[in-house]
Amino acid sequence: MTSLFSELVLFLFCIGFFFMVSSESSSGVQALNVHCRESEQKALLMLKDGFHTSLDRFSSWVPEEDCCKWKGVGCNNETGHVIALDLHSPDPLELLQGELRDSLVHLPYLSHLDLSHNDFYQTQIPEFIGSLPNLKYLNLSRANFGGTIPSHLGNLSSLQTLDLSNNQSSLRASSLVWLAGLSSLKVLDLSTVYLGDVVNWLDAVNMLPSLVELRLVSCQLHSLPQSLPSLNFSSLEVLDLSYNGFYHSVIPNWLVEVSHTLSLLNLTTCSLQGSIPRTIVNFTSLVVLDFSFNYLKGSIPHGFGNMTSLAVLDLSVNYLEGSLPATLGLIQELHNFKYSPLRELRLSRNLLNGSLERILPQLSELIVLDVAWNDLDGVITEAHLQDFSRLRVLDLSFNRLILNVSSNWIPDFQLESINLENCEIGPRFPWWLQNQKRISELDMGNASISDIVPDWFWDISPSMKRLDLSNNHLTGKLPNLSSKASLSKLDLSGNEFEGRLPQLPPAIEILLLIENQFSGPISPICDIMNESNALRHGNNMPGNLPDCWIYGQNLVCVDLRLNQLSGQIPESIGHLINLKWLFLSHNSLSGEIPQSLQNCTSLIVLALGNNSLSGSIPTWLGESFQNLRAITLHHNAFEGNIPAQLCQWRYLTYLDFSFNSLSGPLPTCINRFLPMAEKEAENVHEQYSLYTNDELKSRMWRSQGRYNSDKVIDLSHNRLYGEIPGVVTTLIGLELLNLSNNYLKGAIPCDIGTMKSLDYLDLSSNQLSGTIPPGISDLTHLKGLNLSYNNLSGKVPSPNNFSAYAFIGNHNLCGPPLVKKCSANESLQKTECNSDRKSKSQNDGIQKKEHRHGFEEKPSFYISVASGYVTAFCGFWATLFFNKSWRHAYFHFLGNMGDRIYVFGVITKTSLRRKFHGEKAVE
Ligand SMILES: *[C@@H]1O[C@H](CO)[C@@H](O)[C@H](O)[C@H]1NC(C)=O
Ligand SMILES: *[C@@H]1O[C@H](CO)[C@@H](O)[C@H](O)[C@H]1NC(C)=O
Ligand SMILES: *[C@@H]1O[C@H](CO)[C@@H](O)[C@H](O)[C@H]1NC(C)=O
Ligand SMILES: *[C@@H]1O[C@H](CO)[C@@H](O)[C@H](O)[C@H]1NC(C)=O
Ligand SMILES: *[C@@H]1O[C@H](CO)[C@@H](O)[C@H](O)[C@H]1NC(C)=O
Ligand SMILES: *[C@@H]1O[C@H](CO)[C@@H](O)[C@H](O)[C@H]1NC(C)=O
Ligand SMILES: *[C@@H]1O[C@H](CO)[C@@H](O)[C@H](O)[C@H]1NC(C)=O
Repeated sequence: MTSLFSELVLFLFCIGFFFMVSSESSSGVQALNVHCRESEQKALLMLKDGFHTSLDRFSSWVPEEDCCKWKGVGCNNETGHVIALDLHSPDPLELLQGELRDSLVHLPYLSHLDLSHNDFYQTQIPEFIGSLPNLKYLNLSRANFGGTIPSHLGNLSSLQTLDLSNNQSSLRASSLVWLAGLSSLKVLDLSTVYLGDVVNWLDAVNMLPSLVELRLVSCQLHSLPQSLPSLNFSSLEVLDLSYNGFYHSVIPNWLVEVSHTLSLLNLTTCSLQGSIPRTIVNFTSLVVLDFSFNYLKGSIPHGFGNMTSLAVLDLSVNYLEGSLPATLGLIQELHNFKYSPLRELRLSRNLLNGSLERILPQLSELIVLDVAWNDLDGVITEAHLQDFSRLRVLDLSFNRLILNVSSNWIPDFQLESINLENCEIGPRFPWWLQNQKRISELDMGNASISDIVPDWFWDISPSMKRLDLSNNHLTGKLPNLSSKASLSKLDLSGNEFEGRLPQLPPAIEILLLIENQFSGPISPICDIMNESNALRHGNNMPGNLPDCWIYGQNLVCVDLRLNQLSGQIPESIGHLINLKWLFLSHNSLSGEIPQSLQNCTSLIVLALGNNSLSGSIPTWLGESFQNLRAITLHHNAFEGNIPAQLCQWRYLTYLDFSFNSLSGPLPTCINRFLPMAEKEAENVHEQYSLYTNDELKSRMWRSQGRYNSDKVIDLSHNRLYGEIPGVVTTLIGLELLNLSNNYLKGAIPCDIGTMKSLDYLDLSSNQLSGTIPPGISDLTHLKGLNLSYNNLSGKVPSPNNFSAYAFIGNHNLCGPPLVKKCSANESLQKTECNSDRKSKSQNDGIQKKEHRHGFEEKPSFYISVASGYVTAFCGFWATLFFNKSWRHAYFHFLGNMGDRIYVFGVITKTSLRRKFHGEKAVE
């Protein structure tokens, strides 16, 4: 320790000196009597010529001036040798770009070299750096080097600090054996260097006896050796191995050997399993401990109270269970004075239960308290929160916590971020918020508040960025919000706000007003898209779909369901060139689908059901919307054929054209809807990373159609004629097929039994004839079958569990469940099917989720028409923003979504709220 200390001092001195020299030269003070060597000055000038840029920073690099006075150059004050070169770029706009010239080797006394934060065009780190024998500090981080790290760096036996981090992942090493030469190394940072091919990285690191700090963040390491014969780096203070996939590894035992020196241990997002070792209590020097985003199980060990230095503890997003240890945050009482160093406690998204308030008093020094998404319970009163004067971030959301404070409570803290979603804090509006002047994020969704929002509330904090008051019973009118300059995310959905829509905050990105009692024009929404109102074109009659999209290029999602909107869909919708989700269903829109919608080539979901739209289904829908996944046109007045061009929707999983006047035959190309022809949608379209999460997927589809199924074709209640094309049976992933109430003729495709995913099959009220294919008994998932009112004949295949309702109105059918007995002839009937397909179907052992709601037998075929609509899909995306952990998990996806997302829905029906609550709790 002592030697480290003295070396550090020396080092600091060097740096200090070098800055002194620089500032002296600029202030014109008499310089020291040593001069830069000519050879070294030449070398520096050649080095400078390697960069393309002629930046200000080289303005002092003139041959007439002593190079020891050049900016970024430091010399030994006795010999005049260049010992330090600092060319890092503090300003991202002034990066040095170019190549590193080998004239560098003519600076043999160089001990400090910092080239970080520059751009070397992904070229290799030059080997000659390895021949600078006096180098102690080498920083090439963020310098855009690429290729393989040369093993020549292993010749730098004096090196104490090596930082090669953050050169994107184009920098790699296939071996770290060369590290063994760096016997003086104290600090090693190889974060983001690709080390996926390195075997035994730990053995290589173990060759560094002086190592104090090791950072290998996001190196694609995949093994975390569980044991080490003997550990050499016994002075390790900082260990950061976060963002590596150590699958099936547990927290290794050898860490215990550095338990008395380690001050930072970061193993976030490492796919670690097992439990937190009991020995963690021996880590008495730990200041920062981060085990978040792993698969850790078991309970939180009880010895945390003995870790007397611990300031930051992050165990969030694991599977930890049990109660909060009584010793958490507590250290022994000294003269009746309890003091804990703990400042940040993050335990969100675990399975922790029991009481929180029991240990609250000992956590009163906290700045951050985040226990969201656990199963904690209890009643927190103002007494529990009395001493929390430092608290800035409080997240108690999604537990079973009750906050019971008096209306005149004035807390000691000034919170910046409050999340009390799903806590019980009502029924009165929390008046203690009145003195919280620094709030930037406030989430109080579903918090059982039934009250009028007091006037002062809208003005509490000028720095408010995000406000979520959704799903309470809040009443009142909204004030003019146009002065809320910082407010960018506002969710007031599911309340009883009334009156006209107010003027909206100018910086709004997410706006959820769904399910309130607003009335009047939606023009304020146009206003926020259009900074200069005067430019708005078109008219904005109340009730008309606003023709104000012209400024909405960034709009990704438009949700205006259930709004009594009338008139035509404006042509200007074609300006929404980034639109992905368009929900206009349940309005009174009329006219045709506008041509300009062709512009919206990014559409994923198009929901136009329950309107009065007419005309034919444009053929260009197929060509323009190559990414379309769901389309609902039901309950309109569309006519004409179903164009074969629609089969170009390769990713389609949900099609509902029911209750129109469509005619003509079914397209024979419907087998091209790939996801429907697959058991699992994920396989087909990897580019849609959003589908990797089941929960997400089911939410998405449940939210945008009338059915709870993911893969749906509903063409019922039209005037379709012709036969059911045989290819329909290749849609083995299809869960719901409804072709009822058309004029379809011919036989039921005989290999219908291959469609093993079918939950619901309705072919009723057509003119189908022939026998029922025996394969229908193979449809074991079938919860609803309706073949009634056709001309089917022969024996109902057995065994079957179907009800007679499924077959009535077919006068020539016989056998159970029908009362009519079959003749001997009918009993023997066989249907021939393509044997190919049959054998294929036997291989399809289709695994299906048992969890399927809402599918009742007839007659309640249409599960609550409204319910599926209530959880706005847009709203779901919004919740990603409203929740830190989710945001973390999905940031990579959201990054692609464009930087501004507007979401709005102005729904006037309140009767649907209860359902909304139910849906939201699922999340
Ligand atoms: C020169 O630097 C050395 C350390 O490198 C220091 O001890 C000495 O005081 C310095 N001399 C002057 C005149 O600054
Ligand atoms: C290396 O340089 C970067 C950027 O200039 C800096 O943030 C980092 O702390 C340096 N690394 C070390 C180990 O000093
Ligand atoms: C430096 O290291 C490389 C490879 O590790 C080696 O080939 C070379 O001889 C070394 N150079 C010196 C001067 O030691
Ligand atoms: C752990 O490391 C990750 C990645 O470098 C960082 O984002 C996180 O903040 C660190 N955790 C703590 C508690 O410092
Ligand atoms: C950890 O601490 C306990 C006492 O708290 C002690 O008995 C044990 O030996 C220690 N383990 C190690 C590996 O130091
Ligand atoms: C914590 O410290 C106390 C007192 O120093 C000691 O009695 C206890 O055994 C320690 N607990 C653990 C788990 O090491
Ligand atoms: C289609 O988008 C382009 C911009 O990409 C725009 O100029 C054009 O006006 C749009 N067409 C319609 C009909 O909105």
